[in-house]
Amino acid sequence: MGHLMEVRNIETYYGPTMAIRGVSFDVTQGEIVTILGANGAGKTTILKTISGLMDPQKGSVAFEGRDIQRMDPNRVAGLGISLVPEGRELFPFLSVRDNLQLGAYLRRDQAAIASDLERVFEYFPSVKARASQPAGMLSGGEQQMVAIGRALMARPKMILLDEPSLGLSPKLVKEIFEIIVRINREDRTTIVLVEQNANVALQVAHYGYILEMGRVVMADTASALLEKDDVKEFYLGIKDKGVRGVRRWKKRKTWR
Ligand SMILES: Nc1ncnc2c1ncn2[C@@H]1O[C@H](COP(=O)(O)OP(=O)(O)OP(=O)(O)O)[C@@H](O)[C@H]1O
Ligand SMILES: [Mg+2]
Repeated sequence: MGHLMEVRNIETYYGPTMAIRGVSFDVTQGEIVTILGANGAGKTTILKTISGLMDPQKGSVAFEGRDIQRMDPNRVAGLGISLVPEGRELFPFLSVRDNLQLGAYLRRDQAAIASDLERVFEYFPSVKARASQPAGMLSGGEQQMVAIGRALMARPKMILLDEPSLGLSPKLVKEIFEIIVRINREDRTTIVLVEQNANVALQVAHYGYILEMGRVVMADTASALLEKDDVKEFYLGIKDKGVRGVRRWKKRKTWR
């Protein structure tokens, strides 16, 4: 199996601040790749760079052999890359069903869209039960499910997940990660999973990269990373790092 995506030496800035300092990684077709790192390591910036929300100053992002590092987010989405953004970014006053339908905005195949909606409801029965309610009325876990469902509605080749476990109870994290594994196995969708929760991420991923201050400091198979002492010490021992409730305000172009 070849690489679906090859990221080479990307450097991404916020104004004068270099957030990503020459990052390279590969995503193998059909696998779950995780990028782990603490607050501010640059995880979200990497996903914004891949999805076209930000352009890297240097370096390249190749998807199916094609350079995409300067493409607009809509074109990147059209190639089959769906982002589930940090903090979900649903439309709180729109119904759950409408939020899900928005994920299919680039598609015209109405019959397939309808059957994909059923598929999403099958993955997330508790979301189906609340399909007519405004998305903002749902719990954090249910909103995360809607955000993942919305990404699935694009029928993507690759899903980018930005900290799906954030703010969820261990039980809900387990539930959501079981669905992530099913999406990978049953739909054969490639997944890039960004997480601070190294423990759960390494349980489901095939390969992992550890990011510190905008640089990759370690890369190995998930099972090898789980065995490494420094990974254990810095990422697996400490489950609650810092105050997760206090989030920086962040500029975003769109939910996509
Ligand atoms: N809108 C912004 N303007 C300026 N600097 C920013 C902005 N967003 C992020 N940064 C900086 O870029 C670096 C990487 O941030 P990023 O959001 O990618 O980290 P992260 O790994 O996703 O962190 P978290 O786990 O908190 O989501 C940090 O130093 C951060 O302060
Ligand atoms: Mg982030």
